Amino acid sequence: MTLTHTPAWQALAAHAEALRLQHLRDLFATNGQRFERFSLKHNGLLLDYSKQRVTGETMALLRDLAATADFSGWRRRMVEGEAINHTEGRAVRHMDLRAGDAAPPEVKGVLQRMAEFCEQIHSGSWRGFSGERITDVVNLGIGGSDLGPRMAVHALAAWQQPDLRVHFVSNLDSADLASRLTRLNPRSTLFIVASKTFTTLETMANARTARNWILAAANDDKAIARHFVAASSNLAATAEFGIAAKNVFEFWDWVGGRFSLWSAIGLPIALAVGYRHFERLLAGAHDMDEHFINAPADGNLPLTLSLIALWNTNFLEAHSQGVFPYSHSLALLPAHLQQLEMESNGKRANRDGLAIDYPTNPILWGAAGTNGQHSFFQLLHQGGALVASDFIALGQSDFPLPGHHSGLLASCLAQSSALAFGQTVDEARAAGIPEHLLPFRRFPGNQPSNTLVLPELSPYTLGQLIALYEHKVFCLGVLWNLNSFDQWGVELGKQLTGRLAPCLRGETGTDALDASTRGLITHLRQFRT
Ligand code: F6P
Repeated sequence: MTLTHTPAWQALAAHAEALRLQHLRDLFATNGQRFERFSLKHNGLLLDYSKQRVTGETMALLRDLAATADFSGWRRRMVEGEAINHTEGRAVRHMDLRAGDAAPPEVKGVLQRMAEFCEQIHSGSWRGFSGERITDVVNLGIGGSDLGPRMAVHALAAWQQPDLRVHFVSNLDSADLASRLTRLNPRSTLFIVASKTFTTLETMANARTARNWILAAANDDKAIARHFVAASSNLAATAEFGIAAKNVFEFWDWVGGRFSLWSAIGLPIALAVGYRHFERLLAGAHDMDEHFINAPADGNLPLTLSLIALWNTNFLEAHSQGVFPYSHSLALLPAHLQQLEMESNGKRANRDGLAIDYPTNPILWGAAGTNGQHSFFQLLHQGGALVASDFIALGQSDFPLPGHHSGLLASCLAQSSALAFGQTVDEARAAGIPEHLLPFRRFPGNQPSNTLVLPELSPYTLGQLIALYEHKVFCLGVLWNLNSFDQWGVELGKQLTGRLAPCLRGETGTDALDASTRGLITHLRQFRT
């Protein structure tokens, strides 16, 4: 039976019809206990989902759907290391990376080496080819080998190690690397080549250019060992590139790229904030793992987030998900979640390879508050599209300056409230708005949102937060009956790039190409010198 024909789905569809006409104003008016009823707490975190367009019945029906989808069975299969990524024949074991004492020996071994390496860099015992200490680390990676560590390093700016700057270069566009290199000294710069496969076009191009840059300054092949380390699962390719085995921090094919910041891919985080704080990040994620595995369905934060997301996507037809951290330090979280959610669950074939006849992951986007308020929030308030939002707030500021944080929090609460409840014409009139402006001052509201509150932004709470979203992604994959852990959709573009690059260089003809691509290539060739 396909998902949409199950009794659980059908019951939700009928329920959605009945609930569709109810405004959040009505739901709050008829239940004075909505906050208590529709909020969850776990070890310092608070999720308020009372501003979602749900009732107790909605949540119960959604949990029935989770049972129909065998949520508990799939969770057990993941925990037990079954190859649930069946299209690649791989287990999904990123939780093992942050399991503390229970982590597998190979994980502990790499973590130990990462700790020692951080100590060498921070103490200055690791020196560049000319004897200078390392002052700058550049992570060369893309996608999961970039977004997670980049986001975490930015988020943990308040924990930054003194005297060491960590940079991220991802783009194939030489503007990314070149603009960075002009500000760096090859004698004191170390590169981490971060690539699970060690074949990714962008990363390998940047790594080769960086190697030439070091060699041009050192004029000695031996300098590579002082200035390059790798995080990879492809040890043959790292050796081929010339990186000494002792400088390779390994991870394994059971770590998906977008779930890899807990592995050797997290090395730039450990360097930026110190290994001790990296361990706290792992501990926070482990705490969320335990919660995810043990909490009952009605108190389970990741499952609840996923059920709400499914409800909004498939029954309220909200195909856009905004993420708005009211934390400047979390500004890169939306970019990380974009890959995590959209690369995992933006799928059109179910686990059996059959076409899916329901929308899967919504478009995820976002920006830090309060900046977003002065650009795209207008559309959320009055544009007409239904957009689900996650607001993220911090109890305490990580960079406390007098007079900022209460205003920031007030803005966060004001936005979710305005989106939920809007403003009627009568309210606008009562507020003294002149008659001719009333049509412009009406806010329909009824935009659903979650508010997630972290007590503070620390390595531990950041670990909890990221793991929360990771498990949400897993749950949604189970509910939508798809494999969240492959990404075949990015392959076609990669193959075409491989075919078009020689055409652009004039090495192969363009006759077999479509007329648009052929025309563009002909046009672009004139600029080649
Ligand atoms: O774009 C596809 C992808 O495979 C991502 O899933 C991955 O995070 C990224 O490329 C980088 O891959 P790698 O770490 O192998 O360089």
